Amino acid sequence: MVNHRGPSLMRIASTSKFLSRKQSPRTIALYVVFLFTFSIFVFVFNAGNIVEDQHNPNVSHESQPQPQFLQIADEELWDAPSGHGLRPCVKPTSRYKAAQGSNRYLTVKSNGGLNQMRTGISDMVAVAHIMNATLVIPQLDKRSFWQDSSVFSDIFDELHFIKTLQGDVKIVRELPKQLELVPRARKHFTSWSSIGYYKEMMQLWNNHRIIHVVKSDSRLANNDLPLDIQRLRCRALYHALRFSPPIESLGKKLVDHLRMQSGRYIALHLRYEKDMLAFTGCTYGLTDAESEELRIMRENTKHWKVKDINSTEQRIGGFCPLTPKEMGIFLQAIGYPPSTLIYVASGEIYGGDARLSELRSCFPNLVFKEKLATKEELKAFAQHPSQSAALDYIVSIESDVFVPSYSGNMARAVEGHRRFLGHRKTITPDRKGLVRLFDELENGQQRETSSFSDLVRQMHKNRQGAPRKRKGASPGIKGKERFRTEESFYENPYPECICSSKAV
Ligand SMILES: *[C@@H]1O[C@H](CO)[C@@H](O)[C@H](O)[C@H]1NC(C)=O
Ligand SMILES: *[C@@H]1O[C@H](CO)[C@@H](O)[C@H](O)[C@H]1NC(C)=O
Ligand SMILES: *[C@@H]1O[C@H](CO)[C@@H](O)[C@H](O)[C@H]1NC(C)=O
Repeated sequence: MVNHRGPSLMRIASTSKFLSRKQSPRTIALYVVFLFTFSIFVFVFNAGNIVEDQHNPNVSHESQPQPQFLQIADEELWDAPSGHGLRPCVKPTSRYKAAQGSNRYLTVKSNGGLNQMRTGISDMVAVAHIMNATLVIPQLDKRSFWQDSSVFSDIFDELHFIKTLQGDVKIVRELPKQLELVPRARKHFTSWSSIGYYKEMMQLWNNHRIIHVVKSDSRLANNDLPLDIQRLRCRALYHALRFSPPIESLGKKLVDHLRMQSGRYIALHLRYEKDMLAFTGCTYGLTDAESEELRIMRENTKHWKVKDINSTEQRIGGFCPLTPKEMGIFLQAIGYPPSTLIYVASGEIYGGDARLSELRSCFPNLVFKEKLATKEELKAFAQHPSQSAALDYIVSIESDVFVPSYSGNMARAVEGHRRFLGHRKTITPDRKGLVRLFDELENGQQRETSSFSDLVRQMHKNRQGAPRKRKGASPGIKGKERFRTEESFYENPYPECICSSKAV
């Protein structure tokens, strides 16, 4: 079938020239018939996409729904998209001046879960550089949902962090003793601020030796910052913020176990945890009692501003994490065979193991870190959700394919890091489009046939992590809301930290 393609295209190319001369009506009719046949041929070839080498003359356009999915080529399922020779580039330009920082200090309270803290800390490195300050090792959030008592050095390799950035920012473990009681300027820096904003903030040095940053998340703009500042953010996140040796070593062990089991694996970030469902108000498929429990949690969480949420509208809008069952249908439709090894990167699944039954019936080789490491090895992590999330992060970065069920901080950070490392395959579900299809399945308007699979595959053709520049704000949105709709810098550090090989 493939062989017919070349000659046919050549014939088409010569057709127009041929038709421009005077021809008998019979010849023209012949060509019309030929063109018609050819377009049907192209249509069938594209729709089938995978039907190779099948010399079946009985091609029917009303083909019966097939009971199972078509066989998808291995390369298509597992190979990374072409990186077009792009590489990481984080070296400073020749204009870059290392800040000496000295007797002025920035202390930081980093808020949020693991990845919000990681990206926030990287931004604070940049802010300390801009403001010519010495950065004190940030304090980590102990009060968020995660209730993790870990300090910086439990999660990160502190010495490596300090040393890696020594050409950029001076970093110290603690404030000098004599400054501990000195009054600090406590600042809630404005979200998504420009470099101009932080230069202005340097006025604070006139009256203070220490600025305390109350929150570190999203304090720096995604776009329109000097190239050297953007690259510094990448050096901080991708080079300096290495996990602590115990985490790195267990993470590597988990990856090795997975590789030994099957050679390759999908990391599925299943963000189907209580806090996420309560926060987004997504109760699809849950019992009334569960929905009520989530509502109460949302009601009682002060810093979640939106209380009244219509779950149906959330879901239709594509704002809900996909359920474990939906992820099963999705991966099956993409073409992954039931034998696929899937590592579930996740905290506690809401509803427990029972909620995974449908996903497990599609993909029996579903594994969790608890299955790959011993109780003893995991003991130190059990009480520390952030450290546990760090293990998931490592396994997700190293996976052949990463698939997040929701576009939260972890999904964005992992996607960006995978882009940075060479556009490793990340399949981002089109939640809005998928939910529409799932509902059609539910109503009997669709069946899980090859044509359903085609629809899903078509929908995700351009959502596999291939290189593209970071997206700007949605059109028509003004003011600060604009920043909220921009793609996050750390979700896609291209072009600043990813360059064509020539530019390196
Ligand atoms: C094509 O269809 C005819 C009649 O249905 C059948 O006899 C024949 O075997 C089919 N050919 C192939 C290659 O399937
Ligand atoms: C940075 O701060 C030190 C003092 O703490 C000062 O000597 C130096 O000139 C400053 N550098 C810049 C670029 O402002
Ligand atoms: C939620 O939204 C759906 C769709 O717009 C609507 O049919 C339903 O009545 C709403 N539910 C509530 C409780 O308002």
